[in-house]
Order: sequence, then C-alpha cells, then structure tokens
Amino acid sequence: MKSSLIILIILIVLDIHILAGETIKSAIIPKPLVLEKTEGIFKLTSATSITVSENLSFRAKQLKGYLEPALGYDLLVSHKARRNNSIELKIDKSLGRLGDEGYLLDITKEKILLTAFQDKGIFYGIQTLRQLLPSEILRDTPVKQMDWQIPCLKIEDKPRFKWRGLMLDCSRTFISKEQIKRYLEILSFFKMNVLHMHLTDDQGWRVEILRYPELTKTASKFHESFQEPKEYEGYYSQGDIRELIEYATQRNIEIIPEIEMPGHSSEVFAAFPQLSCKGDTAKIHPFFKGPAVHNEIFCAGNDETFVFLQNVLDEISALFPSQYIHIGGDEAPKAHWKTCPKCQKRILDEGLKDENELQSWFVTRIEKYLTKKGKRLIGWDEIIEGGLSPTATVMYWRGWEKDVPAKVAERGNDMIMTPTDYSYFDYSNEKISTEKIYSVNPVPQGFSSKQRERVLGVQANFWSHIDRTPPVIDRQLFPRLIALSEIAWAQNENKDWNEFNLRLGKIEPILDIMRINYFIKK
Ligand code: ACM
Ligand code: ZN
Repeated sequence: MKSSLIILIILIVLDIHILAGETIKSAIIPKPLVLEKTEGIFKLTSATSITVSENLSFRAKQLKGYLEPALGYDLLVSHKARRNNSIELKIDKSLGRLGDEGYLLDITKEKILLTAFQDKGIFYGIQTLRQLLPSEILRDTPVKQMDWQIPCLKIEDKPRFKWRGLMLDCSRTFISKEQIKRYLEILSFFKMNVLHMHLTDDQGWRVEILRYPELTKTASKFHESFQEPKEYEGYYSQGDIRELIEYATQRNIEIIPEIEMPGHSSEVFAAFPQLSCKGDTAKIHPFFKGPAVHNEIFCAGNDETFVFLQNVLDEISALFPSQYIHIGGDEAPKAHWKTCPKCQKRILDEGLKDENELQSWFVTRIEKYLTKKGKRLIGWDEIIEGGLSPTATVMYWRGWEKDVPAKVAERGNDMIMTPTDYSYFDYSNEKISTEKIYSVNPVPQGFSSKQRERVLGVQANFWSHIDRTPPVIDRQLFPRLIALSEIAWAQNENKDWNEFNLRLGKIEPILDIMRINYFIKK
C-alpha cells in the first residue's frame, strides 16, 4: 500500500480535528442554512471565558451548565468584551433578517462570536456549539485528557418553520414528569420548539383541575378490575405543570395543552356521568380492553357541559402561557347525539342541519370562549366538518383526503402538518422509516405561495397505547424525530438523505451518551 494511502486511512480512522477545514468529526443536526468552513481550530480550555452583556446572563449560565460537567472546571463569565480565548454571546439588533430564532456563529482560532437578533437565536447557536464539540462534552462527569477543539467556521442559520413539534400522548399511558423533562432536553438539542401534551382521553385525565378534584381522584385511574401497573396512570399537579413549563421555556419550547372534546372524553364520565348524553358512569379501560373509539360523548344540548368545560379551560389558560390551546375534536361519534333529546333540541334551536353542524357549533362556542381569554384554538382536522371558523388552526392528521389541506389553506386557516403518512411515531419503524420521514416536504405539492404561508410547521405524534415504557418509547421516537427536526428546520432544497445519514451516524455517540435507546435497522 502506498504511504500516502496509509496516512489517509489513519486520518480517516482517527478523524482528527487538525484538518478541521476538511474533516469535522462532529455533525450538526438540523442542517444549518449556510456553513462555511475556514482554517484552523478553536481550543476550549480552563482559560476560556464567556463574555456576555447583562441581558444574556441566563444564557451564559446555561452554557456553563452544559459544558462544565464534562470539562471538569469552571468557565469565567465576564461582562467586558475580550479579544482572545472567549466565547462571546451578543444580541445584535441589525440581524432582523434572521428572525427570532436565527443566529450567526463565527468561530476563529482566537474566539467564538455568537450573535442573534433575539435571545432564542442565542439559545440555538449554543446548541450548534454543543454539537460542534467532541461528543464527550455531553457527559455529566469530567472527561480527562480531552482536547476540546472546535473547527473554525462561519454559520448563518435560521429555521424554515416556526412550529417544530412533538406530541406525547400522556393519557393512554402516563408519562412521568422526569421522562417529559428528558424529552424536552433532547428536543431542544435538535432545535425543536413545541411539546404538545395530549392530556386527556378515554384512558385517563392527566392534569390537576383545582375546581374538580374528582378528575384526578377518579378520572386519572384505570378501573381497578383491569389491574393496570400503577406507573401507567396518574396525573400532573399544577405545580408539576409549572415546573415543566419553566424547564421548557428555558429551552425555547412551548408546551401546548390538549383537552379533548366532544369525543375521546369518556374518562370524564367516570367522575361526572351527567355530562354525557347517556348519563352512564364510565369504567376507564386500558386501550386494548375497550373500543378504540368510545361512543360516549359530551352532551352538546346540556349547558352544564359548557360550564364544566369553561371552568376547566379557565384553569388551563391560567396555567399554560401558550397562545394556543388544543381542544382535540377528532373521532367524535355522533350516535348518541342522534338519539339524545337535549342534543336534538339544540340542533333545532340553533337552526343546525345535522350532528356535524352541531360539532361545529360546539367548537365555535368553545373558540369564542378561548378568544375572550386571549387564546387561540387548535383542533384535529375533524373540526373542519360542519363548518370551520376562520380563526381556528387545524392540525391535519388524516391521510385519506389529499385535497383537504389545500382547501383549508386556501380559506386562510393556519395548519400544522402531522399526517399519518409520516408523522405517526406509534407506527412501526418498518412502516414509517427514517428515510421516508426525511424525504417529506411538509408543504404539500402544488401549494401556492399564499397557501404555503398557512403551514406553520410539522409535528410528530406519539400515541402511547402500544408502546408504554421509556425504552420502547425511545425506540419509536429515535432516530425518526431527528429526521423530523431537519425537515422542520432546514430548507427543502438543502436536504440530502445520504449526507444526512452520514451526519446521523456521526451523532450516534451523542445518542449513546444521552442514553437514548434509538432504533437500529437490522
Ligand atoms: C388522531 O389520531 N385521532 C388525531
Ligand atoms: Zn346529548
């Protein structure tokens, strides 16, 4: 073998940083808008300081918190700009073109300069910096004899979509507060910014409502006859929710609560049977021991239903600072409405055509209430049926009517793309592969520029009826969620599956350090 070839192989095997211009061991996901490699490396040492203006003190503290456990030493924070050996974080009001979440990262041998129009951009620049360091930087104990080198480069970055989400179904199976925090940390590392919590469904009510303690006492538990494991049930206290919101906000993630109505709500009737059309006391079933979609439904003809829901929404609106509240609206069987005298009277009194219009009337009534509280309504795409209010945001999930998104966008309603075709992460890795997700453009083909503007973004939905324990949930989420983070952030024309797959391979050590039980294709 020629000596030059041997040297080349050694370099590839060691993948060393000396050739930072050509070889970067680390990988950035999602892919930045523009990356220009330059010559040399920046060395992070105990003499490196973090320089910030006062208004970025929190980000400096956060950066220290990310780096110091693995470094094993403290980094000095200074408010005076230093020319050499520093990481400078700076807000630059001339960078409006980068939006709230974009940033510029300029790494030279002398210093690292991270600038952004807003604090959120600084947060994302910090995530990129973490990904550029050797993966061991993610360790939570000191790593000895490590050269903390970062390749010199310039990055200009900003996201394609403003909604980059994950939905976790906390109802079918309760997901502990610690587990939610772990997912929040991972989401933010990949620059995702929405956690949609599906808090109520037929399998349990999972959020404390002070006015109705029966919800958490009764409606958060499976019926004892099913002998479900205790960890599959439970609820978040309002204190837990506040803690999660604070944790998420620090990581630029908004938590969107979902309270299901008028269907997928039979758990409520375990505590308040009088709010359903039939008035029967429900027995909360584990998913596979009852129907997939229960016929029980809130009685739309009973004013007490709206008193209850409005009281719940009062507490939810006060608890969650998010602009949006998700009210479900999917898979609401109308059989009981058809035979309920109160619901039929409502249809007559309101001059409605049928039960679909009754659902639309129901949703509109709730939307008006939310609007008065300064909130905006999101619903699954069934809220379109029977008429859609112009201000509602549609979470599109069904794959069966391809022209629906086009019609919704044409009407001017915002929408979030979560179709079963590629967004349902309870589906097997064989059925929806990482490559399939990566290949998607969340803006459907043929959308005009006006329609395109209505697509707020994309989200993965994880339903917890089949996979119920943390390692199995991990396997459903990863690495697919990492592919989704790139379709949500990177420009479509910037994507390349083969090149992404190489980057994914490079970040596997990080996933291992994060103890993520990701799916490995056999
Ligand atoms: C849904 O999958 N029923 C939104
Ligand atoms: Zn009724």
